[in-house]
Amino acid sequence: MEKQRVLTGITTTGTPHLGNYVGAIRPAIAASEDDSVESFLFLADYHALIKCSDPALIRQSSKEVAATWLALGLNTDKTVFYRQSDIQEITELTWILCCNAAKGLMNRAHAYKAAVQANEAAGEDADFAITMGLFSYPVLMAADILMFNAHKIPVGRDQIQHVEMARDIAQRFNHNFEEIFTLPEADVGEDVATLQGTDGRKMSKSYHNTIPLFLPESALRKAINKIKTNLLQPGEPKDPDDSTVFQMWAAFASADETARMRREFENGIAWGEAKRQLFELVNDELAEARDIYMRLINDPGHIENVLLQGAERARAHSVKVMQKVRAAVGIAAIR
Ligand code: TRP
Repeated sequence: MEKQRVLTGITTTGTPHLGNYVGAIRPAIAASEDDSVESFLFLADYHALIKCSDPALIRQSSKEVAATWLALGLNTDKTVFYRQSDIQEITELTWILCCNAAKGLMNRAHAYKAAVQANEAAGEDADFAITMGLFSYPVLMAADILMFNAHKIPVGRDQIQHVEMARDIAQRFNHNFEEIFTLPEADVGEDVATLQGTDGRKMSKSYHNTIPLFLPESALRKAINKIKTNLLQPGEPKDPDDSTVFQMWAAFASADETARMRREFENGIAWGEAKRQLFELVNDELAEARDIYMRLINDPGHIENVLLQGAERARAHSVKVMQKVRAAVGIAAIR
């Protein structure tokens, strides 16, 4: 039987943080060890261009994201790991899908609608500063997914709509031309943790409350010490369920260790002590990968080679699919 194909992309804007690690990277690396699936993972650098027009940042982020996944032990024999922009067929397919995607469908995309609403609220023209890239974002994402006939797309909630749009576009293409594309499904991990940031809101780049994943040890300690707490004194019982420190503890600790910390909170552990233990726990989990990460960052040629090898494997699929697609729509040699 054909293996289930799992595919996901990571937009390369910014430095990976603890929230990305707990919510996406750690579960994805664990899942990629599953032999019953074939997994594809890529750096979505064309998607990054939609949100960022600083070339240095795009370059830096691609390097950091790639080094992060490799340092954390992504098995690149099992997972096809590549960079979107190395697969020329993706942009080619994007255009053909554009010609099959209803504009009305794209009008309903959350990201585009939110941008329009923000403009209207600010008294601007509805489409002020909205690029065709932002508007067509779901089509590029559909090309990413459909190119590799992926079945399951592990994503966060905010991306479910995009996967549904990819499915919709695939259905339309299959109906109008040939049954080429697999209909993808979003796979939203129900049990993965979302981490709170240092201010207690969801850890997110847009809130400036993140803790970068591979901070040097002393900076990690400082960042954890800065997590917001209340003013309860040592000895006063603390509510674990209302604490970012406890929540982060639970994301890294075993069930037993989590139960122990819950009791410590009820017994009035001092915030300083809770944070000290949290630092030790997080640091232990990350220390080894951090060393590898630092080595990789200083050896960009190695990262590049890994990505190019991944691209070669990915193109073994994309070139064939693109040939079929071109033929199906009538882009062909004249004979
Ligand atoms: N848009 C996704 C995000 O920002 C990243 C992405 C690009 C992606 N292409 C994809 C995810 C294809 C899954 C499949 O999170």
